[in-house]
Amino acid sequence: MKGVILAGGLGTRLYPLTYATNKHLLPVYNQPMIFYPIQTLVKAGIKDIMIVASGPHSGDFIHVLRNGKEFGIDHLEYAYQEKPNGGIADALSVTEDFADGGSITVILGDNTTDADIKGDVDKFKEGALVFVKKVPDPKRFGVPKFDPDDKNKIVEIVEKPQDPPSDYAVTGLYMYDKNVFEYMRTCKPSARGELEITDVNNVYIQKNQLGWSELNGYWLDAGTYDTLLTANVYWAKKAGSSAVSS
Ligand code: DAU
Repeated sequence: MKGVILAGGLGTRLYPLTYATNKHLLPVYNQPMIFYPIQTLVKAGIKDIMIVASGPHSGDFIHVLRNGKEFGIDHLEYAYQEKPNGGIADALSVTEDFADGGSITVILGDNTTDADIKGDVDKFKEGALVFVKKVPDPKRFGVPKFDPDDKNKIVEIVEKPQDPPSDYAVTGLYMYDKNVFEYMRTCKPSARGELEITDVNNVYIQKNQLGWSELNGYWLDAGTYDTLLTANVYWAKKAGSSAVSS
């Protein structure tokens, strides 16, 4: 299984912090944000990784990550998303050659988690799988609607709903089989002008090929001022920092 980290976008929600560098290189306690998704993949045994970057600071990654050896990565590749805010699915589309007809585990570069996904990665065969997590504020996320007669089944994912159909977020961790690129080509940009990963996941649902798993640990996307601060505090506490109360 190969891994993809999507680290494009302009990070506008974090202006002015992202004037000087890419969002995914901002500090989360003692590490740049992108170290966390890298560690999640490597811990799951995924050591063949592509990072997709975009925007004015894309070149910054190579100074920080170099060839990835210090993380235990065997092979690290970089790719460039032409349209910096084209959407998560648009960023994923540039990894088609890298995936080379195999399955991929995808993680968003601003998602930090201490969950262990190795069991799901090892079991994955075909279709797609989304990792979900119960959250207090589902409106900020893609939200799964579960089948009232069969809670094991997601019947739809709604992106940032006004009236969330459940208390769960679809996190930025996904697994896809080789069909993801073909399904993606059937999707159109959303009202916010982005190719949405939620639309791709809904194609898998329509084909009855989407599974889900609940993340077994802490999870947070660190893409806003408040969640960036919360993530810093969480990881500082976990590392035993004396600067934060336990
Ligand atoms: O964090 C989980 C959520 O991430 C999901 O629940 C949502 O369904 C999903 O749409 C996404 O929502 P966000 O609004 O938080 O996505 P955002 O635009 O902040 O992008 C998240 C990451 O995706 C970003 O850190 C880098 C990558 N990305 C994003 C865009 C728009 C790209 O690589 N290229 C892009 O064009």
